[in-house]
Amino acid sequence: MSRRTFARVVAASAAATVAARVRLSVDVVPRLAGQEVALKDLVPRGWLIGAAINQNQSDGRDTVAVDLITRQFNTISPENLLKFQSLHPEPDRFTFDAADRYVAFGRDRGMAVIGHNLVWHSQTPRWVWDGPDGALADRATMLARMRTHIMTVVGRYQDRIRGWDVVNEALNEDGTLRDSPWRRGIGDDYIARAFEFAHAADPNAELYYNDYNLATRSEKRAGAIRIVKDLQQRGIRIDAVGEQGHWRLNTPTSAELDQAITDLRTTGLTVMITELDVNLLPQAGPPARGQPPSPESNPYANGLPDEMQQALARYYADAFRVLLKHRDGMSRVTFWGVSDGDSWLNRGRTNYPLLWDRQRHPKPAFDRVVAVLAGQ
Ligand code: XIL
Repeated sequence: MSRRTFARVVAASAAATVAARVRLSVDVVPRLAGQEVALKDLVPRGWLIGAAINQNQSDGRDTVAVDLITRQFNTISPENLLKFQSLHPEPDRFTFDAADRYVAFGRDRGMAVIGHNLVWHSQTPRWVWDGPDGALADRATMLARMRTHIMTVVGRYQDRIRGWDVVNEALNEDGTLRDSPWRRGIGDDYIARAFEFAHAADPNAELYYNDYNLATRSEKRAGAIRIVKDLQQRGIRIDAVGEQGHWRLNTPTSAELDQAITDLRTTGLTVMITELDVNLLPQAGPPARGQPPSPESNPYANGLPDEMQQALARYYADAFRVLLKHRDGMSRVTFWGVSDGDSWLNRGRTNYPLLWDRQRHPKPAFDRVVAVLAGQ
């Protein structure tokens, strides 16, 4: 950090701390916080803090977001670019151009570049699982395809990608293994095999298991712990477990989050929050084809009421307080997107799940997170 940056961070952090202590109205801090403070300078030593970025960002077209990402974060994840279907659309064809630019984006900025993901039931082309006559491929065929994919992709980015989500979302909500085509074709040990291939392709890469609802559902969390322990018993490398962190206001509660991290830490691994966002919209199915969303399903189309804005800010602050309590057991927090307009949670509606608004201005939630980090 340059001396000037350091001085700015110290000044801004001090202001945030003072504001928190004397309970000044938070709007004393935002200007300062939004313009001067970087999350990466405030997180505990050793933590990575980042965002998932899209191709407009990794290709440098979205220059406002590029500046923000560069200033705020020390790690990036690829929102879609490194998924199976993006990299390997046909058996003998890999498409690496956009992925190479994503990796270069992070390396050029000295960031930890994350790989997401290798083995998942979604965003994977059909050919991967297909056998003759529309049947599922047999175990040997599917394992060979998995091996080729992992060896080629992880091998290509050896020593440039810090760590990989090796297996994503392998669990049902009750903690049993999801009946994904990978499992049906290969058997339960598809998870162990995926981790082995990844380790063989890059012995220095960190390897993660990643899933959602691990903080809200204790049965599912127990399933994740079983996966980790099984790998450990087999002597296979695994470095961290990722709770995606697709949360809603007040779920998980602080107590649930606290318990979840405590439980996951019994594996001895660090915990990562890998895809953090907070959904403010009611649960609703997609609107009928060509129809706009109903007003009830899209209540904030014309703006977010201040009370919701403040509730979001409080929720983020509470969550970060819990994460800080576990600072030694946490190794990364990554937001799933940069600003509200970028988020996958919009899907035709208007959502507000992140720390920057559609104009790329920091929201009250950003200021509250800064105050919590600065006050640690
Ligand atoms: C999402 C992307 O954000 C969307 O752009 C895409 O259409 C679908 O996938 N869990 C994951 C992520 O592990 O890869 C998903 O990303 C969100 C849920």
